[in-house]
Amino acid sequence: MTNKTVFLDELEVDRPPFATPPARVILVGAGPGDPELLTLKALRAIQTADVILYDELVESDVLELALPRVRRIHVGKRGCRPSWKQRDIHELILAHAFGGRTIVRLKGGDPFVFGRGGEELAALRDAGLGVEVIPGITAAIAAAASTQVPLTHRELSRTVTFLSGAGPGHGLPEFTHIDLEALNDGHHTIAVYMGVKTSYALGTTLIGAGWDAGTPVLAIENASRSAERRVRATIRDLAERPEALALKSPAIILIGRVAGLPVAGQLDVVQRAVTEYRARELAYA
Ligand SMILES: C[S@@+](CC[C@H](N)C(=O)[O-])C[C@H]1O[C@@H](n2cnc3c(N)ncnc32)[C@H](O)[C@@H]1O
Repeated sequence: MTNKTVFLDELEVDRPPFATPPARVILVGAGPGDPELLTLKALRAIQTADVILYDELVESDVLELALPRVRRIHVGKRGCRPSWKQRDIHELILAHAFGGRTIVRLKGGDPFVFGRGGEELAALRDAGLGVEVIPGITAAIAAAASTQVPLTHRELSRTVTFLSGAGPGHGLPEFTHIDLEALNDGHHTIAVYMGVKTSYALGTTLIGAGWDAGTPVLAIENASRSAERRVRATIRDLAERPEALALKSPAIILIGRVAGLPVAGQLDVVQRAVTEYRARELAYA
């Protein structure tokens, strides 16, 4: 299956016949990648869909669960590359929503965790469509399960924050909307989404907010997929040498004492990565 992006004005959309019954529109969480982590409800929705509009992070293994006749349309957003505009996605759903069709809007993880599910829901409601929502396993929960590192722990962490590391436009985030000093009670876990490119800004901001630079960090790339990779580091590493972690998206960055717990399976310890990074730098010097 190709992931070639075709935009709204290039797509052929069937025109609604006269007086048609209402469509069924379902916002479905596709989970983190492993198809076995779909809910039964999500699987049923995928298998009854006439049209599936799917995001960048939806794995092909999940799309393959749909019936062969289903029209699958990629509407992903791809970092700095040309991407679908949110308004065009709303229009595309509306264009397909007629004649009793079932439209599945398939989103990575959970539709309501950094997935713009709320915006799509509002646009569809405004257009008079009823919408169903099926939750999915969000990336931080999947990363915790696959590394066997709990997000909360009676002795180490009593609260969790899901934080977006995305900055405004292409800039670095300043994290002024969150009181990181108040979260620095030694019993808090931060799970950072979309934080690979901006981990430096978060590391320096956390240290500025009084967090111990040695606080453990565990980054999990591609949680639940065959390419999963885990990197252990500290807040200092984020602030001083984020390149050494060699992180690639998609990744979840866990910060807090739980991130120092033993990890099931393989681990890249950043110290090794730092040594290799320095060796490479020396080689180029
Ligand atoms: C636009 S957000 C969507 C989050 C999604 N709605 C969810 O609930 O997981 C995209 C970010 O989710 C995280 N992410 C999604 N899938 C992931 C995975 N399998 N492993 C690690 N991180 C993932 C990454 O931080 C990525 O940059």
